[in-house]
Amino acid sequence: MKMLVFGSLNIDHVYQMDHFVRTGETIASLSYQKIEGGKGLNQAIALSKAGQHTHMAGAIGQDGLFLRDFLQSHQVDTAHLQLLPSPTGHAMIQVDREGQNCIIIHGGANQCLSRAMIDGTLSHFEAGDYLLMQNETNQGAEIIRAASEKGIHVILNPSPLSDALHSWPLEQVEWFILNEIEGAALSGKNTPAEMLDALVIRYPRGKFVLTLGAEGAYYADCQQRLFQPSVPAQAVDTTAAGDTFTGYFFHAILSGHPIAFALRRAAAAASIAVSRKGAAPSIPYPDEVEEKLQAL
Ligand code: RIB
Repeated sequence: MKMLVFGSLNIDHVYQMDHFVRTGETIASLSYQKIEGGKGLNQAIALSKAGQHTHMAGAIGQDGLFLRDFLQSHQVDTAHLQLLPSPTGHAMIQVDREGQNCIIIHGGANQCLSRAMIDGTLSHFEAGDYLLMQNETNQGAEIIRAASEKGIHVILNPSPLSDALHSWPLEQVEWFILNEIEGAALSGKNTPAEMLDALVIRYPRGKFVLTLGAEGAYYADCQQRLFQPSVPAQAVDTTAAGDTFTGYFFHAILSGHPIAFALRRAAAAASIAVSRKGAAPSIPYPDEVEEKLQAL
């Protein structure tokens, strides 16, 4: 069984700020860093750090070759990464004193995926393999259709939210991992309980992980519902906390662990990521997660 992340790679420009810039305001940042990011890359790194052999497909330009090197240095297989003439995708991230962020993304090469790239990549995968995707590339609907036609298990993190998501073949998605905003948009409901009730009715074969940050996380399918409280942390930068949760959760599931075990490990891993600066570089290793769990 193989795990493929088909998604975005970004160059993250991270500005530490006293507060988020307001309309008409110009302010100096307290510090600046250029680091590896993008939801696809972050989730591939989290899976790999958790211990999952992971393949990453997506696209970069010449300016993003360091992202490929970074994936390779974390044992992610990059054979299906395309080098295109467009610039690499990037993100402008403001992080305030409370560790909260606001992010602008520019798609660049992430928005230049072709049908031929999807078919070429998926020809190396087969029924029973897993594909994890997000919403930072073009061709999202096509990736779901092509993968599920082959019997590949599709996991969708519908982030960031867009109107286009409503026309994707979501009934072909097996696992959804989503936050409260995405949950509200896909279900039309306001509270976590109502969201999960509605999603399970709308997609009866789906399995749902709803992450609520400091409020914890739920799992729901048509038979059961579980809750995992968050693991306390001093927030320095919440960027990639959700990506860390995703990678650790699915590594545990693919390793055959029960859902409650996967939720707990994922919550501990995410709590470490929020206590560190940056996206992919903030993702912990399993011994750090173990240590955190033992200290609880
Ligand atoms: O989920 C965090 C990521 O969102 C950042 O790394 C940034 O690139 C944006 O895609």
